[in-house]
Amino acid sequence: MRLLDKSASEFLYQQVIEFVEKQEESGAIKAGDKLPSLRKLSSQFGISVPTVKQAYIELERQGTISARPQSGYYLKAKQARTLLPMRAKWASCKPVEVSCRSLIEQVYDAVHLPDTVALGISNPVNAHPPDKALARLMRSILTRVSEKAVSYGPVNGDAKLRLTLALRYQEQGVDVNHQDMVITNGAQEAISIALQCVAKRGDIVAVESPCYFGLIELIESLGMKAVEVYTCTEDGVCINELEKVLNQHPVKVCLFSTAINNPLGSMMTNEQRHALVKLLESRDIPLIEDEVYSDIYYTEQRPIPAQLYSEKGLVMTCSSFSKTAAPGYRVGWLIPGKFEEAAKRIKRAQSCSSPMLQQWTLTDYLLSGEYDRHLQVLRKTLRYNCERMRALIAEHFPKEVCISKPQGGSVLWIRCRSHVDTSQFFSQAIEQGVSFAPGQIFSPSGKYKNFMRISYGVKWCDTIEHSVMTLGKLVHEFSDK
Ligand SMILES: Cc1ncc(COP(=O)(O)O)c(C=O)c1O
Repeated sequence: MRLLDKSASEFLYQQVIEFVEKQEESGAIKAGDKLPSLRKLSSQFGISVPTVKQAYIELERQGTISARPQSGYYLKAKQARTLLPMRAKWASCKPVEVSCRSLIEQVYDAVHLPDTVALGISNPVNAHPPDKALARLMRSILTRVSEKAVSYGPVNGDAKLRLTLALRYQEQGVDVNHQDMVITNGAQEAISIALQCVAKRGDIVAVESPCYFGLIELIESLGMKAVEVYTCTEDGVCINELEKVLNQHPVKVCLFSTAINNPLGSMMTNEQRHALVKLLESRDIPLIEDEVYSDIYYTEQRPIPAQLYSEKGLVMTCSSFSKTAAPGYRVGWLIPGKFEEAAKRIKRAQSCSSPMLQQWTLTDYLLSGEYDRHLQVLRKTLRYNCERMRALIAEHFPKEVCISKPQGGSVLWIRCRSHVDTSQFFSQAIEQGVSFAPGQIFSPSGKYKNFMRISYGVKWCDTIEHSVMTLGKLVHEFSDK
């Protein structure tokens, strides 16, 4: 029997899990078989009974084995495994300067490669694009405004759009004044402005771990440092862990998806959001909330913005139409809290204003009621795609991979075996006509090498199934190495 490597960075209990998985793979144990007792395995490996128990509990939570009272643990029949919150101790991170640019560049480039199925980029709108409705509205606007369409717009954007958006927040109980809002070039510019309102070069920004790579790159380009905060696969940023990070490092600002995390698809509860704002405002630390996925929820109700709980004006809300209607229009917004003046100044200095034609089109889309009807279909389509994609991955990937169960958004986060580095087969996947996002670009400190993100924001067709099979073959190949 292979002995455990006590000097490895991998936890001992994870090595026990891998041992059980290998036994299953080699056929040494089969569905229905009883596993060695805790005592037997602990003495065979020379490790403690609680360590073996931790492994068995984890395998039970993953659905691989089941416990029978008074009898022991048994191997269950094969099924898709859900990625569960990590119970092992989270290794806390130091603030780091970020650098995984070349891989990020390749992921972006792959979106525009001909004959490549882009599963590496999160574009939910692909699943149900509203292009025809938007084109119709834009044509109608162009007949009304000719000269104005090519002029500069106001720095903070179209007043009617701001008013319409503010009303939507007010319906959720959030007191937003449209005069304070700034229309931006996508959520990315909103976040960039928000960061510059409260932090400068060298300052530390707390981010989720894992975190959307575009934000990591943004922090890098502003010369700031990132520190990662443990983020749960089910309910987002862990407040206790955040508190520890704040006690250890002079964090200047937190940048979190308070609704749906990309890539986890996890969602904070209202209580957590409230606790988060309370904690940060008690320490006078601003919160930048990234709300781009808030309208793509699979729960009963839209997640409430953290802005609702702000008493000191330290919460800045950033969002856009990129994930719901038209990423190419580049229309986003910022609710800047008490940083209104700075936000407008930075917007003016950075990009002067945002294109008006797209803003008018989206305003008409909202006011006509078509946007909300579109959202309903989009959410339904994505939810359906999500289940189909999970089933396909369970069928074609090695059985030990664990897959997230998102509560919204358009991506799956997949954990492969610990020795698999998904960036190593990225180029091969592209050569075979499919892209994905390797896990390591979702962490400033390069964690998640054995993870990958796959998008189900796609128009479903046979090619998608074929692409998942292609990726499955590569993961099999690299798992067996
Ligand atoms: C979590 C998250 N935040 C922000 C953005 C940027 O959004 P936008 O395209 O509106 O700039 C993205 C885009 O992928 C995202 O996934």
